[in-house]
Amino acid sequence: MDSSLLHDWPEPVVSVQSIAESGATLIPNKYVKLAADRPTAPGSSAGRELSIPIIDLGKLAGGVVDCRAVIRAISDACRDWGFFQVVNHGVDMELVKAVLEVWREFFKLPMEEKKKLANSPRTYEGYGSRLGVEKDSSLDWGDYFFLHLLPHCIKNFDKWPTVPGACREITEEYGRQMVNLCETVMKVLSMSLGFNVGFLKEKFGGEEIEACMRVNYYPKCPQPELTLGLSAHSDPGGLTVLLADDRVPGLQVRKGNAWVTVNPIPGALIINVGDQIQVLSNATYKSVEHRAVVNEAEERLSIAFFYNPKSDLPLEPVKELITQERPQLYRAMTFNEYRLYIRKKGPSGKTQVESLKAM
Ligand code: OGA
Ligand code: NI
Repeated sequence: MDSSLLHDWPEPVVSVQSIAESGATLIPNKYVKLAADRPTAPGSSAGRELSIPIIDLGKLAGGVVDCRAVIRAISDACRDWGFFQVVNHGVDMELVKAVLEVWREFFKLPMEEKKKLANSPRTYEGYGSRLGVEKDSSLDWGDYFFLHLLPHCIKNFDKWPTVPGACREITEEYGRQMVNLCETVMKVLSMSLGFNVGFLKEKFGGEEIEACMRVNYYPKCPQPELTLGLSAHSDPGGLTVLLADDRVPGLQVRKGNAWVTVNPIPGALIINVGDQIQVLSNATYKSVEHRAVVNEAEERLSIAFFYNPKSDLPLEPVKELITQERPQLYRAMTFNEYRLYIRKKGPSGKTQVESLKAM
C-alpha cells in the first residue's frame, strides 16, 4: 500500500466535541451506523453476567518464573477472551489519577487551542477526530489525541500539549510505567507459550520496542443508539493497556456473535493482545475485536497505551508454534507496512489480520 496516500485527510475534519456542544439533537448522517453495527442490533448483547477475567498481578511480586497460577490465568484469558483486567499491577495510582486529570483538562481547552495541534494521517500525532482517509466513510463519535512515546527519536514534542503544564511530564512517566507493565505481561506470555521469559520481547526488537498512546474523548451523544464511539476493530500492535473511565462504561468486547460490556473496576487496567501477538503466536492467542459505545448523559475519557514491535522488523509466526496440525497462518510483514492498512481504512473489524493469511 502506498504511504503517499496518507498526506492529508480527505475532507475537512470536524471535531465531534463541537457537534455535541452545538446542541444538535440529531447526529449528522455520517455518524449513523448500518443497522447491524449499531449498539442496539438485535441479539448483539450478551448476558450481563459475563465479564472479562480479573487477574491479580500482585502474585508476581516474587518474580514471574515461579508463578504458574498467574501464567495459567493470563494464558486462559488470552485464549478465551483476548482481554483481561489487572489489579495490583504496580502502576502508581496517583499517577493514574493525574494522567486522567491532565487529559480531561486538555479536552476542556478552547477549540482554537486544540486545533493548533491538529494531526495529519501521516503520523497521526496530535489532536484528531477520524481514523482512515477514505472519503465519505462512516465516522465515529469520538475525538482523540495521539502521541508517540518510543523510540525517543521519533517523539515530537512540538505536537504535545503545553497546557496543562504538567501534561508532558505526567504522560512520559505514565508511559514508562506502562512499558514496565507490558514487559511483565510479555514475560508471562513468553512463558505460557513454552519459551524463556525474554523470548517475545526479543522478537519485538528487544530494547528497540516502540510505544504510542491514544487518549480517546467521547462527547455526550444525542442519539447513542445509532452510532459508536469507536467502531469494531482489533488493535494492530502488540499489547494494549486501556485506562478506562471507571465512572462511565463504554468498552465492549466481542464474544462469539455478541458484545460484552466491560465494567471497569476502579484502579484496574484493561489489557488486550493485538494483532502482532496473534501473528507471532500463529493464532494461539487472538487479538479480539472490541468497540466503544457512547451515551447521552455523560462524556467518557479513556487512555489506550500501545506496546508495539520495532516497526521495521519483519514479524512472522515463530517456528516452534508451526506444526503439521497448525501450519504457518501468516506471512511476514513489518509493523510499518501493517499499520498502513488501519491508517487508510480506519477501524474495520478483523479484516486486516485476516488479509495476511496469504500463504
Ligand atoms: C482503542 C480502544 C476503547 C475505549 O483506543 O484502541 O479500543 O474504550 N479504545 O476507548
Ligand atoms: Ni482498541
